[in-house]
Amino acid sequence: MPAIVLIGAQWGDEGKGKVTDLLGERVDYVVRYSGGNNAGHTVITPDGQKYALHLMPSGALSPSAMIVIGNGVVVDPKVLLSEIDGLAERGVDVSRLRISGDAHLIMPHHSALDRVVERYLGQARIGTTGRGIGPAYGDKVARMGIRLQDLLDPGILRKKLDLVLREKNQMLFKVYNRKALDVEAVAQEYLEYAERLRPYIAETRVMLWDALDRGEIVLLEGAQATMLDLDHGTYPFVTSSNPTAGGACVGAGIPPTAISKVIGVTKAYTTRVGSGPFPTELFDDNGAHLRKVGAEYGTTTGRERRCGWFDAVVARYATRLNGITDLVVTKLDVLTGLAKVPICVGYEIEGERFDDMPMTQTAFHHATPIYEEHDGWWEDISKVRSEADLPANARRYIERIEELCGTRVSVVGVGPGREENVIRHPLI
Ligand code: IMP
Repeated sequence: MPAIVLIGAQWGDEGKGKVTDLLGERVDYVVRYSGGNNAGHTVITPDGQKYALHLMPSGALSPSAMIVIGNGVVVDPKVLLSEIDGLAERGVDVSRLRISGDAHLIMPHHSALDRVVERYLGQARIGTTGRGIGPAYGDKVARMGIRLQDLLDPGILRKKLDLVLREKNQMLFKVYNRKALDVEAVAQEYLEYAERLRPYIAETRVMLWDALDRGEIVLLEGAQATMLDLDHGTYPFVTSSNPTAGGACVGAGIPPTAISKVIGVTKAYTTRVGSGPFPTELFDDNGAHLRKVGAEYGTTTGRERRCGWFDAVVARYATRLNGITDLVVTKLDVLTGLAKVPICVGYEIEGERFDDMPMTQTAFHHATPIYEEHDGWWEDISKVRSEADLPANARRYIERIEELCGTRVSVVGVGPGREENVIRHPLI
């Protein structure tokens, strides 16, 4: 089995960490390929320990897999080091970590600009995580980024920093009335990080190709999700990278022909953090139920997540865009106790019916969901492990999702723990 891609099929926080963890012991390499510490995976291990990871792939908790941060990730070294230390303190072996020398660094001016630009945008803000993600990718595209490998050459680091801060300090000071950053102080800070990160920096592409040649399993773990993709999501209310399956090839340096499986994770309902259109969003008691029972608060920022019904238009879009071969539907248990569980099967936009995503953002902003009502169930499903033991209405709900998305639902999550799943088809 060659490379497997794992992606979020909605707006993030679908429970990808749980799936990585579920596969963890079978895979040889777990690779993050996009995003940075804007992500947040909560993983609960069999001994009941809860871990919140932001930059490290969630597979870091499986004892044997090599952990890789690919070239497509933007790395805040301070955050990475604190995650390395936090995991080491809890007895996790972090010597398995390798970071691509081509990954870009998040620098102090990136986080400063992220926050100040958001404030400047006011009502029109994106609702970013404030971690400097957009500005870091912006510099990468503008070819003024600083990469992990630059940490290994103090002369180059100072030269690049001096160049980039000439422009950024003007922006910070003259446009946004913020303090300019001192080149030498930043260089010193980053050179200290360099000393600690040096053993982890590697040519990860060759490592992964060699692993694939040996027939080992490489899991490419997406952060964020399809609808937050810079090109395919709800632009501009998106992140600044490509979390979709295509981005896995670019962000890890893996050829498309090496990918044999794409696992898409979706909640049994929908959530979103930050601004942007969300047709099935609920503002009533049902929304409050989903938030409360689903504990819908961000792992990274602690923000309340916006909650709504399952949107099959989005899920089908994600299935086709990413070539999802297996869907994992998480948090089905959160729907327990609701009399009706509607599924959005299409949109009405200015009198016209859409079964697929409309072409423009303006239309998507005006989309009214067309719902199909399903009867709910009351039974506690958290102990259910086989499909046959699910209440009939819960089973029908999953079968309908499968039908609407046009791909099989392989796993259904019935609780937050690693074991709390109904496996319909083994993932590997
Ligand atoms: P950024 O990635 O910090 O630039 O934020 C851009 C948008 O993506 C905002 O709406 C964030 O709330 C959203 N976002 C970024 N990372 C995540 C995530 O891991 N889960 C959910 N939303 C996210």
